[in-house]
Amino acid sequence: MTAKAREVEKLVQRGLSDIRQAQSLEELERLRVTLLGRKGSLTAILRSLKDLPAEDRRQLGELANRGKQSLETALTEAGFALREAVSRQAALAEIDVTLPGRRLPRGRLHPLNRITAEICNIFLHLGFETVEGPEVELDYYNFEALNIPPDHPARDMQDTFYFNDQVLLRTHTSPMQIRIMEKRRPPVRIIAPGKVYRRDSDMTHSPMFHQVEGLLVDRQVTFANLKGVLTVFVHELFGPEVGLRFRPSYFPFTEPSAEIDIACVICRGQGCRVCKNTGWLEILGAGMVHPAVFEAVGYDPETYTGFAFGLGVERVAMLKYGIDDIRLFYENDLRFLRQF
Ligand code: FA5
Repeated sequence: MTAKAREVEKLVQRGLSDIRQAQSLEELERLRVTLLGRKGSLTAILRSLKDLPAEDRRQLGELANRGKQSLETALTEAGFALREAVSRQAALAEIDVTLPGRRLPRGRLHPLNRITAEICNIFLHLGFETVEGPEVELDYYNFEALNIPPDHPARDMQDTFYFNDQVLLRTHTSPMQIRIMEKRRPPVRIIAPGKVYRRDSDMTHSPMFHQVEGLLVDRQVTFANLKGVLTVFVHELFGPEVGLRFRPSYFPFTEPSAEIDIACVICRGQGCRVCKNTGWLEILGAGMVHPAVFEAVGYDPETYTGFAFGLGVERVAMLKYGIDDIRLFYENDLRFLRQF
């Protein structure tokens, strides 16, 4: 081998070793320029070939060209490897495993559903079963069987959405009393939550709202049982220290009838805007089931007695959470709903 050939061999070997040890793409580019660039060392040798005698030119040309090829291959491969390492490092830098995880947004119960569940749960523990019934109701169940005949002035008490003479949107959950008693024999102990509808709309009244109906029928049920059950209920829901009172009232389907007030939870009975300075807030209507209602479902009023009650869920929720506008419940504003 000629001295020139040895020089080429050494140059290529050194070049290959430098390329393999290169730590960055910049270093690799520098090596490419010094070896194979326009003024590169191997380029210079290739250029000088033309001055050599024919035999040497062929031998050295072959050697230098092979060297050039292996250098180019090594440069490409090292470039790939370095780029891959760089992007792997960048990806690692982006994932900071020490950061706390992102919380997924969680849904929650609407305040009205929560209160309804709470109410049903209290009665469940008192032995009541939850039932549901239709919102599109017959006049018979909504009025007539509840001792409210067609010309009864009580029909003026509730402004009703009618589909026709016989079909309407129920104005209260009391038709569930009839539907259940038609199907069962005493003892009956149910509560019936659901939507009801009235032509009514202001800060404390909505055309659609929710009620929970309660009904207990058995032998020897008295007004004392009604007072006992509803007192336990109010204390469970609002706390044992809240005062309550039973006020005489009138409903065609109960006799005697009462309305139950609780001491205003906003001012604790001192008198404020919410309780209109009375210190009391009405939360439900109740009474002993009227004998005419028992007759409508074929129960003997001489054998059975019972009590019923109906409460407005929105009213309870407004008191419990201190909300003064009923419409907030239906606007689905997340800023409002997230507070519960
Ligand atoms: C009734 O609806 C009777 N069915 C309750 C009843 C059942 C009495 C069983 C006796 C035996 P009243 O119309 O008062 O009664 O309504 C009951 C509750 O519903 C009210 O105390 C009030 O809290 C709520 N309420 C009435 N109208 C609206 C309305 N437009 N928007 C929101 N809540 C209302």
